[in-house]
Amino acid sequence: MPNVTINGETFTAQTGERLVDPGRRNGAHIGFFCDGRGICQTCACRVVKGNDQLSEPNEVERIWLSQAQLDAGERLACQTQITGAGAIEIETRAEDMRNQLSAALRGDLSGVRVDVATLGSMALGFPVNLARTLPHAASRLPNLEGINAYFSDVFRVLGRMTAGGAKRDGEDKA
Ligand code: FES
Repeated sequence: MPNVTINGETFTAQTGERLVDPGRRNGAHIGFFCDGRGICQTCACRVVKGNDQLSEPNEVERIWLSQAQLDAGERLACQTQITGAGAIEIETRAEDMRNQLSAALRGDLSGVRVDVATLGSMALGFPVNLARTLPHAASRLPNLEGINAYFSDVFRVLGRMTAGGAKRDGEDKA
């Protein structure tokens, strides 16, 4: 059974799951705003270890991520499948942004990496990328079960972030 470490916490996973799944299940700080439709980019992450345990980048990831980003280990966790049983470690963009923001709010700007050029190109590319992604997203229409699971996971993540306590596999199965 593969282990996935997300922002320093290790969770169990199943081969065939998406990288985002153990994070959602355990309330890790990983985004899933569009519920895995490849639109919102909130599940973006960087693979630190275990790239060879993951599926190749799919078409949706190739729309949103440049080859340089893919080469640097960046992935969309909702599009990336766990294919091997080895250890995987990722850091999420959501957690990185939170760390930068909390440092900035404390007055420490040394760790803040606002890249205006990258933000600009992301903003300019967004409409085109969105249009290219929608045909893929349209194949995943929501159903009642999916909507229930979505909100259950949202409340789990929010509850965990406000409580601040760690929850591990088996502690919070809905
Ligand atoms: S959850 Fe929206 S792009 Fe992955």
